[in-house]
Amino acid sequence: MKVLLTGANGFVGSHVLDNLLARNIPTAILLRPHSDRGFIEPRLAHVEVRIGSLNDRDGLERAMGDVTHVVHCAGATKALRIADFHAVNQIGTRHLVAAIDAQAGRVQRLVHLSSLAAAGSATADSPAREADPPRPVSEYGRSKLAGEQEVLGARHTEWVILRPPAVYGPRDGEFLRLFQTVKAHLLPVVRGGRQALSLVYVKDLAEAVVGCLSHPAAAGRTYFVASPQVISAREMAAEIAAQMSVWTVPLPLPTFALWPVCAVQEGWSRLTGRANVLSRQKYPELRAPGWVCDPSRLKAETGVVCATTLKEGIAQSLAWYRREGWL
Ligand SMILES: NC(=O)c1ccc[n+]([C@@H]2O[C@H](COP(=O)([O-])OP(=O)(O)OC[C@H]3O[C@@H](n4cnc5c(N)ncnc54)[C@H](OP(=O)(O)O)[C@@H]3O)[C@@H](O)[C@H]2O)c1
Repeated sequence: MKVLLTGANGFVGSHVLDNLLARNIPTAILLRPHSDRGFIEPRLAHVEVRIGSLNDRDGLERAMGDVTHVVHCAGATKALRIADFHAVNQIGTRHLVAAIDAQAGRVQRLVHLSSLAAAGSATADSPAREADPPRPVSEYGRSKLAGEQEVLGARHTEWVILRPPAVYGPRDGEFLRLFQTVKAHLLPVVRGGRQALSLVYVKDLAEAVVGCLSHPAAAGRTYFVASPQVISAREMAAEIAAQMSVWTVPLPLPTFALWPVCAVQEGWSRLTGRANVLSRQKYPELRAPGWVCDPSRLKAETGVVCATTLKEGIAQSLAWYRREGWL
């Protein structure tokens, strides 16, 4: 097996790279010329770096070189313009699939990172299951669903589509904001704390990704990859506060306050030219009743369980943020 990993320098991809190298799986990584290599600097001596971009089909074909398996972690989770989500998550995936198909069968399997956002929102009473018709509510979610449809069109490789919910853990800059808010003695209570969430700890996700590269039952399957624990953002913030030993006062963020927050963040992103996860397209996700999925198909068919508890995952994230001076 030789793997080509896209998005290797990103949050999720860097953990997938750690997992591949820990198993001594020969790996090549796709980086753009100016990709930040901070997370993976210590790993660069152990991988082949192939320069390319999802927007460059010829470069992708060259990057396929001698690989037998592809893990596609590259994606746009934030964008300055709606079109940018589709350019990366849909059209970029189309180019990747075409480059794989051009190898005429040498690439045996593609593991594709999609998202619960492609399926749409669901509550704890009725969690999202893979057989449900997808109903994405955001442009990000629609672009991830469109990316999945590109993967379904692959002709000369087996595919596996993984749909994680929100991912947290070391190197993540999004949940970091929650840790920082708690450190400032504020406990955000979004929509009365009612929104139920599935989460996945990033090392559990990486284990599932690498497991799906070779598990025979995973071929042609779509899986939610999540901890079986369902929580609210308020419970997560309370656990962070307990582990940091800080007192907090509630910061109510009712539904009507979320849209202006998103609009202001989007305006700031445009001014600075730096995309932010919070934007008006994100608002439908924030006001959804829940983001809960059922990971039982993955367990039943592959034996993979995302076993890290919220308590353990927060402890490991906190330790990393402190060690790296992020908090
Ligand atoms: N984080 C989550 O909570 C979460 C939840 C569900 C699903 N996902 C999915 O997991 C995947 C990874 O997310 P992440 O959180 O790790 O994101 P991330 O940290 O922002 O990393 C994104 C990666 O994609 C690469 N990339 C973006 N555009 C590219 C292009 N045109 N050509 C080549 N590479 C490109 C980036 O490379 P550069 O550094 O060069 O920009 C980076 O390596 C995404 O597909 C995302 O949709 C994430």
